[in-house]
Amino acid sequence: MAFLFLPEQLISTLVLLLVLALYVKCSRSKNPLYINWPIIGILPSLVLNFYRFHDYVNHLLSFSGHSFKVPIASMGSFVTCDPANVQHIFTSNHANYPKGEGFADIFNVTSGSLFTADGESCRRQRARYQSALSSPGFVAFTTKCCHDKVEKGLLPFFTRAARNRTLLDINDLIGRLVFDLYATSVFDVDPGLLSFDMPPVQLADAMDTVMEVGFFQIIVPAFCWKVMRSLNIGPERKLAAAQAVLRGFTMEMIETRRKIGTHIGPEEQAPASSSMDILSNFIDDLEYNTDDLLQATLITHMIAGRDTISTTLPWVFYNLAKNPHVVSRIRNELAPLVSRKETFIASTTMTFEPEEVKALVYLQATLMESLRLYPPIPIERKAVAASDVMPSGHEVCAQDIIIVSLYSMGRMEDLWGADCKEYKPERWLSKDGVMLRHVPSHKFLAFNSGPRLCLGKDIAITQMKTVVASVMWSFDMEVFGDQGIEPKLSCLLQMKNGLKLKVQKREM
Ligand code: HEM
Repeated sequence: MAFLFLPEQLISTLVLLLVLALYVKCSRSKNPLYINWPIIGILPSLVLNFYRFHDYVNHLLSFSGHSFKVPIASMGSFVTCDPANVQHIFTSNHANYPKGEGFADIFNVTSGSLFTADGESCRRQRARYQSALSSPGFVAFTTKCCHDKVEKGLLPFFTRAARNRTLLDINDLIGRLVFDLYATSVFDVDPGLLSFDMPPVQLADAMDTVMEVGFFQIIVPAFCWKVMRSLNIGPERKLAAAQAVLRGFTMEMIETRRKIGTHIGPEEQAPASSSMDILSNFIDDLEYNTDDLLQATLITHMIAGRDTISTTLPWVFYNLAKNPHVVSRIRNELAPLVSRKETFIASTTMTFEPEEVKALVYLQATLMESLRLYPPIPIERKAVAASDVMPSGHEVCAQDIIIVSLYSMGRMEDLWGADCKEYKPERWLSKDGVMLRHVPSHKFLAFNSGPRLCLGKDIAITQMKTVVASVMWSFDMEVFGDQGIEPKLSCLLQMKNGLKLKVQKREM
């Protein structure tokens, strides 16, 4: 009889011991969020906290001294926000930390382009890109597009919302503005998403899908999504549909341009800006001689500009709406520019020229402060070519994956001080407030660092300054109610549920 009951007793004793071990481990752990189980590692706590991924990783990083190893292959093997490690990975030893084949697999819609390239191909494409982005014609073309779009497209929405006392969905509005801007700078075609009839945003949605599924692919083990990809199920099915939309649109643009040609026929038949846009820059380049590479290059430019600026600006407006004293300082900085304009009428709106806003340091500090707390690209993924030891003492092995949390870097107390969670543009200024303080890019990684530093930083800052100055000069804004603002799970730090603002024409 006793023999018959033995297995049951054994099992219940084992279960009891396991529960007891769990209890002891949880109660002893300084941080119950970070319980590193044998074999399954932090998988249970990662699953439980996945919905608030960036804050969870930030918590783990501050608890572990800014770096930790993940003993399971679910989210890379080394996670860090330590500036010394960042400098090592992005600059001093960057050849050992390429984007890698895994990254190219994840973002295969940009396959072969600068976004996924490493080594010699990256060097060549960067040089080619840099010359396209810095050509005076391209800079003049994009800055004029931005000015005109703000004046004729964006400000009328604010005026109408203020007059009719309707709420503005700033995410949607900025998304439309920036999509139009970047489609114009790439294809010289304005899709007109920012118009009062609010056309569908299928292309912008497709770009968002690439980044949402990309995030999932970075975090879960590759074999999971590769199986899904081969069966065309789950997020992979959504991704395939989004990629088809993007490829279809870019191919249509390429074919139309091939039919029209560049500078063919009499001057009056040629498109007005036919030698300025990105497509004209690459279409006759023999290195971009396949449709796939040309498409991937154009999609890369759309991602580089559209995704980043349209993610950043809503956070900037959110921070400004919450900090009226910062808005007053921006207006003080703008006032001398306005007084120099002969045509200013207080009842109308005002659009600032990119050249005018360039020297505004306080305005720039407000952008940097938003980028610190809300970097549009919140994580970077790097591969490891050969085993190495990090400055933090952690060992990484070939084939490991490194995740750098830009989100956490901007929230490190050691780096930014005890007030690191507060929105304080002043931290970017010299003591006398007249100059911007230099912060090295391995401490402020929003624009990347080292040989792969963002190539569009200056264009982006000028465009964002033009938008913010023009809106803030003429309108007061307030966050409507308690909207529970939180980031989406994506490679972009977009707001999950958008942001509704109450706007009013400013009394002057
Ligand atoms: C708020 C605005 C922007 C931010 C925060 C930003 C940030 C970044 C970051 C973090 C990267 C590295 C991404 C990676 O490879 O993992 C990057 C790369 C790049 N960015 Fe930007 N960017 C911004 C706007 C722009 C704009 C407007 C353009 C073009 C006009 C641009 C062009 C590029 C290009 C071409 C690269 C690729 C560089 C390379 O891989 O070597 N960016 N940017």
